[in-house]
Amino acid sequence: MSGELAFVSCTVNGVAREFHVRAEDMLIDVLRDRLALTGAKLSCDLGACGACTVLMDDKPVSSCSTFAWQAGGSEIRTVEGLAGADGTLDPVQQAFVDNSAFQCGYCTPGMIMLARALLDHDPSPDRDAIRAWMGANICRCTGYEMIIEAVENAAAASQEAGK
Ligand code: FES
Ligand code: FES
Repeated sequence: MSGELAFVSCTVNGVAREFHVRAEDMLIDVLRDRLALTGAKLSCDLGACGACTVLMDDKPVSSCSTFAWQAGGSEIRTVEGLAGADGTLDPVQQAFVDNSAFQCGYCTPGMIMLARALLDHDPSPDRDAIRAWMGANICRCTGYEMIIEAVENAAAASQEAGK
């Protein structure tokens, strides 16, 4: 099947997209190389670290381990699609800034998307739930404490903003 083309139609950050992919093309490559959405980062390329996390139909997925054809018919959200049209940051993004919840920043887009998925699913998670959920992604810099605090603050802000 290698090299065969499949036609994929999906929505990325609210915009209808159509493209041809080979069977072996991964979602992260389409996002980064064809759509210039470089927020999702390639790190382990094994589905283990979460740096490449995007939302597919509101569920976090590792885009390095998701075939592009699997995105057919779905709604994809990347970190580029979180801010409002006027540039206002999503409460999760703002909380990461306010809490200095990053150092090198390489894991940050994936962490933010993972946190967004949590708060979409559970608007008021307790600290243990946040720890358990965010443990799916790896950060090599921060020690996680500031990330956990950012998600706690984002939960409060998201509820205020009705997000
Ligand atoms: S780069 Fe995809 S999970 Fe690590
Ligand atoms: S901020 Fe550097 S890997 Fe998380």
